[in-house]
Amino acid sequence: MTGTGEVLFDFIASSVKEFVERETDDSKLSLDRRRELGFTFPFPVKQTSVSSGTLLKWTKGFAIEDMIGKEVAGCLEKAMTKKGLNMRVAALVNDSVGTLSLGHYHDTDTVAAVIIGTGTNACYLERTEAIIKSQGLLTASGGMVVNMEWGNFWSSHLPRTVYDTELDADSPNPNDQGFEKLISGMYLGDVVRRVIVRMSQESDIFKPISSKLSMPFILRTPLIAAMHEDDSPDLEKVGSILRENLEIPDAPLKVRRLVVKVCDVVTRRAARLAAAGIVGILKKIGRDGSGGITGGRSRSDHKMRRTVVAMEGGLYTGYTMFREYLHEALTEILGEDIAKHVVLKVTEDGSAMGAALLAAAHSSVPVDNVQLL
Ligand code: BGC
Repeated sequence: MTGTGEVLFDFIASSVKEFVERETDDSKLSLDRRRELGFTFPFPVKQTSVSSGTLLKWTKGFAIEDMIGKEVAGCLEKAMTKKGLNMRVAALVNDSVGTLSLGHYHDTDTVAAVIIGTGTNACYLERTEAIIKSQGLLTASGGMVVNMEWGNFWSSHLPRTVYDTELDADSPNPNDQGFEKLISGMYLGDVVRRVIVRMSQESDIFKPISSKLSMPFILRTPLIAAMHEDDSPDLEKVGSILRENLEIPDAPLKVRRLVVKVCDVVTRRAARLAAAGIVGILKKIGRDGSGGITGGRSRSDHKMRRTVVAMEGGLYTGYTMFREYLHEALTEILGEDIAKHVVLKVTEDGSAMGAALLAAAHSSVPVDNVQLL
């Protein structure tokens, strides 16, 4: 994550090579034939064609300086050539865009995709004429996918606390990815940790103060999910995580309850913000039942179209309370009548499979020979 671009792409190329070598005989393409690859690259890229783009910046803790501004598909192709693989990147795809493609492939009512995992992002289908940046560019369908990179959204209305400001300052990318730092899995655990640190400084409830508690990112989000969802009467799981991961021994039940409450507040805030983001998209494309910025149907029009949002990412799929809070907020903002037409649908492995579908669609080899890796 912090080495050189060459090391990173050599690693990816060896993984691809291992995969190719594991293939069963009947799926083997003749060795002299060039294979086509869909490459899911979940970072901000300036897309220069279907199969190329330059890295704008890293997110989610990656910090490989020599890669900024480089064309990433070319880097992978170079590394694959070094490993003796005859392969070409047919589609370079953000994970949100991959998810949208697979979602849309299975269900044509899919109009957007949202990733809530280590990082967060969304993309949606827009009419090309509504995209100011793409003036003059025409597509056969009249539509285009907009990768929003919403993780970098910021507004003074967002509820930023002192914990968020300090987390941002200590992160590898300060002043960047503000929305992502309030929502995604990479950060939620650390927001909770920072609240606990403050409580331990201002009271004696976490005595003796553990040195582990002051280590950034030591409390990972799966641990806060496990504490939050501990339904045992004396919160045993909370007790053991505090003991084993934060070196806080013998926390009484009252303190364990307090920790669960902190997990709840931080997770609920994240889920509600993500829900607000989704409603923002629906509003932009006129699917929120209110007429929409680009002109949709009115709230009184009962023929609100079924609207599917493809969802992916461990925080959404693996953290029940997060998911429930998100759904609750979506219904609260849209109102039940509209919300019942909005379906959030998990696409399994969509980001990768969708990239493979796009590679197939843009491939120069017959589609029969394209495999979903
Ligand atoms: C990246 C996005 C990506 C998202 C989810 C963010 O940090 O900027 O490109 O889609 O994480 O993986």
